[in-house]
Amino acid sequence: MRVLGIVSETHDTGLALVADGVPELVLEEERFSRVKRTKAFPSHAIKAAFDDRGVGLASVDVIALPWDIGRFRTMTARALLRHFPMSLNLMHARAHVPQRNQILLLEHYIRKGLRTHFGDVALPPIVQVGHHDAHAASFFVSPFDDALVLVMDGFGDDASGSAYLGQGNRLERVWSTPVFNSLGLVYTFVTEHLGFEGFGDEGKVMALAAYGTDRLLGRFRDVVHAAEHGGYTVNMDYFSYDTYGQIRPMKAKFLSTFGPPRRRGAALTDQHRDLAYALQKVTEEAILRLVRGLLARFPSRHLVLTGGVALNCVANGRVLAETGIDRLWVPPCASDTGAPLGAALWHTHQTCALPRTYELKNAYLGTASTDIENETALDAAGLDYEVMPEAALVGRVARDLADGRVVGLYQGRFEMGPRALGNRSILADPRTLAMRAKINTVIKKREEFRPFAPVVPWERAAEFFEITQQDPFMTLAPKVRAEKRSLIEAAVHVDGTGRIQTVTAEENPRYHALVSEFGRLTGVPVLINTSFNEQEPIVARPEEAIACFRRTDMDVLVLGNCYVTRHGRSVAPTDASGEHGAVIHELKPRAQRPDARDREPRPRDGSTE
Ligand SMILES: [Fe+2]
Repeated sequence: MRVLGIVSETHDTGLALVADGVPELVLEEERFSRVKRTKAFPSHAIKAAFDDRGVGLASVDVIALPWDIGRFRTMTARALLRHFPMSLNLMHARAHVPQRNQILLLEHYIRKGLRTHFGDVALPPIVQVGHHDAHAASFFVSPFDDALVLVMDGFGDDASGSAYLGQGNRLERVWSTPVFNSLGLVYTFVTEHLGFEGFGDEGKVMALAAYGTDRLLGRFRDVVHAAEHGGYTVNMDYFSYDTYGQIRPMKAKFLSTFGPPRRRGAALTDQHRDLAYALQKVTEEAILRLVRGLLARFPSRHLVLTGGVALNCVANGRVLAETGIDRLWVPPCASDTGAPLGAALWHTHQTCALPRTYELKNAYLGTASTDIENETALDAAGLDYEVMPEAALVGRVARDLADGRVVGLYQGRFEMGPRALGNRSILADPRTLAMRAKINTVIKKREEFRPFAPVVPWERAAEFFEITQQDPFMTLAPKVRAEKRSLIEAAVHVDGTGRIQTVTAEENPRYHALVSEFGRLTGVPVLINTSFNEQEPIVARPEEAIACFRRTDMDVLVLGNCYVTRHGRSVAPTDASGEHGAVIHELKPRAQRPDARDREPRPRDGSTE
């Protein structure tokens, strides 16, 4: 049975294909349309998915949507009636965020989109899966046979937090908290208050929090109260998002207590840093209390955390360290990116009772390009390159990294979810702070306060980090061991933590070999890993990787088995179209191609590309 999970009109538009419980592809539309956080129907992703699998709509048995629209309608009607007519504002939203009336019409939009894409064909049956049920269904691809599953996000169709007991191929919901009692929405609206984008920039606030003090913590503890049985209650004296939605989420009391909103781009002050600190700490405290309360009622050694709030790796790390569980698993697509996958998994296992056969050990469920496509793209761009055997490529790139060069690594299928995990990554040497400044200002053009994530071979992780379990999906932020911090300065956040990714040879051989070889050369088996993009969705296709390489100051591009460099590049001029060209001064001769393709290398004269 093949299930197509799909969602449209929300901030993580995309799809998943799942065959008998095995995920085949998980694709976000933004990777293909190149429009960040698009809400458009995922027609590009559909084409990419069906092309990749060589199948058509006829091969899909069921279409699963990650919203129960009946439940959502009931919840919305109640919310509208409670504060009518002001509550009509709940139906309005800014362009990039979920809009209630669009979710209410989700099935209509999906049918319309599919008909536009495929023509007037018979559609497979469409089923609706509860939003939190879909999040919770990641349990079915977790390493656990049994677990407590906690879902927290902005809002679902009938709750903003839910807990489930997972056993084999069954999930049973045992707790929920109402839609407007939402830790996720509190975090999102304070993120917006701090001048960042809600439903997307929450990670920036988490990073900023480490620079704050506890000056506002006492006051912020009045914003989220402890409730019975370990729960929490959002104090709506501070918020009006249950009445005015995104139009006016804060009440005057919030503004008088915590100050006016920061204008986007304005200077960050101690007030902003301290508010971020208070928000983060109170969020951590609420999650810890909740998990402890749930574990007291439903003892378990295993915990699955999912929903957008589970992107908070600092809170996740505390949950693992401080609640007595043996193991925590957070899927790489905890946010709504994973909702189509979850809807398909729920239908497969919970509804149809198929047994579980698959464990999600890596996140590489995007599309890939072939060697020929990679080389054709490089040729079209006029870039010289070498096709290198694997061992030589790893050796050369490790030396580049040790020499302080910044490398774009494009290989295999891209990662699902918001994190680059070694297949669409920018890699660099973590040993000096100067590298952080270089990547922040020259390549990524992002805020200086944001940390860079370290990647380390799993077998060396405990030497550098206080870590007790593998973390292939970058979901924890353990402390960097005090004696090692000076060795990996650029990867240590101001609070002494690192947003770690552990890598194994089984799940990503080249990535593992690269970090290991860098360790052999330098004594430090750790690299900085950040997503391969520049103010855009993470690159998906070779053309986008090449474009990003050319318009930034990245030193080396690895595109499949192709190696591209521009050592000693001079200042890149801008041509009439406004695009930066690259001047290549040091071009390596093209190596003998292992596959003996017959195209000759194009001569280069070092002039502007
Ligand atoms: Fe969600």
